Amino acid sequence: MLRSVRRIQGDTLGFLQSMARQHGPVVQFPVPGAGTYLVAGAEPVRRVLVTNARAYGKATLQYRTLSLVTGEGLLAADTEAWRAQRPVVQPAFHADAVDRTAAHVDAAVRALVADWDRAVAAGREVDVEPAMLQAAMAVVRAALLDAGSNADVRALTTATARALEIVLARASTPGALLPLGWTPAGRRLSRAVRGLDAVVSDLVVERRRRAYRTGEYGADLLGLLLAAGLPPRQVRDQVVTFIVAGHETVATALTWALDLLARDEPVAARLAAEADGVLGDRPLDVRLLPRLPYARAVLDEVLRLYPPAWLLTRRARVDDELAGARIPAGSLLILSPWLVHRDPECWADPDAFRPDRFLPDAQRPAPLHYLPFGAGPRICIGRDMALLEGVLVLAALARRYRFGTDRTAPAPPLAQVTIRPRGGVRLRLRAR
Ligand code: HEM
Repeated sequence: MLRSVRRIQGDTLGFLQSMARQHGPVVQFPVPGAGTYLVAGAEPVRRVLVTNARAYGKATLQYRTLSLVTGEGLLAADTEAWRAQRPVVQPAFHADAVDRTAAHVDAAVRALVADWDRAVAAGREVDVEPAMLQAAMAVVRAALLDAGSNADVRALTTATARALEIVLARASTPGALLPLGWTPAGRRLSRAVRGLDAVVSDLVVERRRRAYRTGEYGADLLGLLLAAGLPPRQVRDQVVTFIVAGHETVATALTWALDLLARDEPVAARLAAEADGVLGDRPLDVRLLPRLPYARAVLDEVLRLYPPAWLLTRRARVDDELAGARIPAGSLLILSPWLVHRDPECWADPDAFRPDRFLPDAQRPAPLHYLPFGAGPRICIGRDMALLEGVLVLAALARRYRFGTDRTAPAPPLAQVTIRPRGGVRLRLRAR
């Protein structure tokens, strides 16, 4: 393990893949303390997340580290806290609420297109990732926190990125074991989190003020949290959780999508043809979704190749057995959709970008083999929202632009909080 440290840091995904290939579906890492296992096979992953999910919780270093930013929100909450929280926020993700997100996606795409049209006119390349982060943040902000204003989207995007960056850097140094105030990185993190908290606190104050005037909190996430009478700390933790969970995931998926489209003319042309026939000049709308099966297949395939949430961890609450290996209570389990999605036992030609695999008339992949949103009781609550947003954005951009790049290979993946393209993605756009 010590010899592998450099490799783990430089090429985490490659390291995990080589472990799985050499040692099989469940690999025990020789590290001191409680057992640490890589669960790579589709079957044992399913057992941990779905069929024996109650035997596993989220009391892991990954989620504890994330909670330095998100607090005890829904994503990081361990079993009992999670059970109390999920019903409070679930109504914000009912079908009609998700459908209403389309209007916010439309607004975010209009702002993005206005920016990118200027870049096209000036012959400038566009830096895709920051633009997608901003667009996805605008959607989360409008759909869940307040549709009224979005003046603080840039501040939110920067403060969140900053806090996550420091958490990530901190997680890979011994300073992580010390209290926050003791190290410079810890103090920087506290400052970044305070910046995020200030924006969130303004949102809450504004909503309370409005509720005082109108007599109601509203049916979006923020309204539900306040109406449930949660203490301010819990409201803050949920709001930050949804900001973190809901924007970088969608933004990195869309960034990879454009990177892939720029190097695959036939797929880009087919996507554009579908979008031309469906979108017209009307605002983006949920009713368009069933008429965009190719855009959906492209998104599904991007989420297979680059599942943004590449690392899921669990702590065994009781003894269990996975693929014949005994897993004592207290063990740490490391799971990765990346491994399952690139496993040749599950997928033909797993590294190839082939949206056709997901077309409605293709043979559907086994649910066991495809889990970009996780699975079981802790499955992503924002799945439908993310799919709606992803499909509409892809279709709208493909209809408007041709994407170009000189790079022949995809950017190398960098496994951080999400899987990001190392060095970013810069593309030349041409109007269609
Ligand atoms: C492409 C976009 C997205 C991907 C790939 C994704 C992926 C995931 C995955 C894999 C999990 C399960 C984590 C685990 O089991 O440890 C998860 C949970 C979660 N996601 Fe997403 N997500 C996306 C978009 C969103 C959006 C848009 C939101 C909210 C607006 C969101 C909010 C959450 C929350 C709150 C949880 C925790 C759910 C629970 O434990 O009950 N996600 N997501």
